[in-house]
Amino acid sequence: RTTFKWLWRATYLSLLTGVGLVIYDGYTDRNPEEQFAPDPSKKTLVVLGTGWGSVALLKKLDTANYNVVVISPRNYFLFTPLLPSCTTGNIEHRSIMEPVRQILRHKKAHAKFYEAEATHIDVDRKVIKISDNSDIKGKVNETEVPYDMLVVGVGAENATFGIPGVREHSCFLKEIPDAQAIRTKIMDCVETAAFKDQAPEEIDRLLHMVVVGGGPTGVEFAGELRDFFDDDIQKLIPDIAPRFKVTLIEALPNVLPMFSKQLIDYTESTFKEEHINILTKTMVKKVTDRTVEAEITGPDGKKSTLTIPYGLLVWATGNTIRPIVKDLMNQIPAQKDSRRGLAVNEYLVVQGSRDIWAVGDCAVAGYAPTAQVASQEGAFLARLFNNMAKTQDLEQKIHDLSTGLNLKPGNAAEDSQEIAGLEKQLRRIKDIKPFHYSHQGSLAYIGSEKAVADVAWLNGNVASGGKLTYLFWRSAYLSMCFSTRNRVLVALDWIKAKLYGRDISRE
Ligand code: FAD
Ligand code: NAI
Repeated sequence: RTTFKWLWRATYLSLLTGVGLVIYDGYTDRNPEEQFAPDPSKKTLVVLGTGWGSVALLKKLDTANYNVVVISPRNYFLFTPLLPSCTTGNIEHRSIMEPVRQILRHKKAHAKFYEAEATHIDVDRKVIKISDNSDIKGKVNETEVPYDMLVVGVGAENATFGIPGVREHSCFLKEIPDAQAIRTKIMDCVETAAFKDQAPEEIDRLLHMVVVGGGPTGVEFAGELRDFFDDDIQKLIPDIAPRFKVTLIEALPNVLPMFSKQLIDYTESTFKEEHINILTKTMVKKVTDRTVEAEITGPDGKKSTLTIPYGLLVWATGNTIRPIVKDLMNQIPAQKDSRRGLAVNEYLVVQGSRDIWAVGDCAVAGYAPTAQVASQEGAFLARLFNNMAKTQDLEQKIHDLSTGLNLKPGNAAEDSQEIAGLEKQLRRIKDIKPFHYSHQGSLAYIGSEKAVADVAWLNGNVASGGKLTYLFWRSAYLSMCFSTRNRVLVALDWIKAKLYGRDISRE
């Protein structure tokens, strides 16, 4: 009884502490300290993008050292790992968005934000052309922003490999509007399939959800989709439910190529149990408004063509370079052999450029295009820039002391001692090591409250899959959310969906 009493007290206390921390975080979020005004004598640091790379940089950067200008067509940071959950309403999209102005308001010195797309970087004049592409435009909707230092963190766009019909007929899954469009389309297909007198073959087509690309995006989306049908739609519209079908198409011999063999097998067998049809060694060649045409390689190596009718088609075949990045690469001769993005050196400097750095999916540093890599690169650049500012400060001090500006008569010995101290400090600061990526592991949700994880542990790797891994997946992503506000919203969404089911209203 005594143990129970103490356990109860400890739980009560930790709950109370948790609630207290949430309230305190909320208060400090709403009432940040006053900011310094920007100092025009400092260098202008322009940051393009508000994704993983740029925001990790902004989070750690001491904005008092530069005039910081942030430019992005998106005025929020998006926590992409939970985006597949927004396609079915398991999580509401606003729960994983964090306004960039809220992030910047918490910095020591004021930073400017322009909601605009960078359309051209002029490396000779050191200016960026920006354009307001939002619906509401003022009289000025195009202008130029000068920079002394530039960080390119614009990410990548969806690869289609020029396959006919993809752009016109399929949905992507990269941004919030993509997830919203998928959510609306799923319900449109379901309601249209339930329409009076609908022919059986048309119901089959409408309820056939096809996902192209067996990377983590495609796998996670297929899992979320199956859950949605099993947990909610089946209960609400039972008459059409048995005809619902999910097919995942992958060109390679297996899905999730970046995971260990054991987890690939586990995912494929879980999908079988969940009735998710996997077509591997199948390359989509053409898309029409109702069908997907694919080339399938049989076990004997023979190729045949398959026509697959679909109601919803989600295209998740990875990344390609954005036009702004291509345009920048074309201006720099040293970039002519780079195919997948801006080639950077070990300090993330764009090779062949002056005062330009790149982070995340638009940079080629030898790592996979993931949020983990982008955020570590952003944090590295923040340290580098903070150090550079300190270095300049120290160099100025040493210069002033050694040229006698601050030399008081009779103080020469003291000054030379101070100079030696400053020089030592300077050497330590200047000795910043090149960027080194530390891989923490890979996680993916595979449906039916199961997840797979390849996690770095001591000097090795631990592979696990199942329901416990799913709890780990949930707690890892909850703790990685940008703010306490995001964490609270995501947790409430999960509770809401569990208690009341997902909201199937079509917007
Ligand atoms: P992004 O985060 O894409 O940000 C790019 C920014 O640049 C955006 O703000 C955009 O609006 C802005 N921009 C675009 N064009 C311009 C322009 N012309 N001018 C100015 N700004 C511009 N990775 C993981 O490690 N773990 C995961 O679980 C995971 N899950 C994912 C789930 C999904 C559905 C997707 C799509 C990706 C996932 N990723 C995950 C990959 C991860 O999201 C990317 O690697 C990461 O977002 C890259 O960060 P970034 O800063 O380079 O680009
Ligand atoms: P991806 O590049 O990882 O996978 C795309 C897949 O599509 C490939 O396996 C490719 O073989 C296949 N494909 C290409 N063309 C095809 C065609 N015509 N027909 C059939 N299949 C075709 O892309 P994804 O999943 O969008 O991920 C992009 C990046 O984001 C990756 O680096 C990934 O690791 C990361 N990411 C990580 C997640 C996680 O860790 N949970 C979740 C989502 C993305």
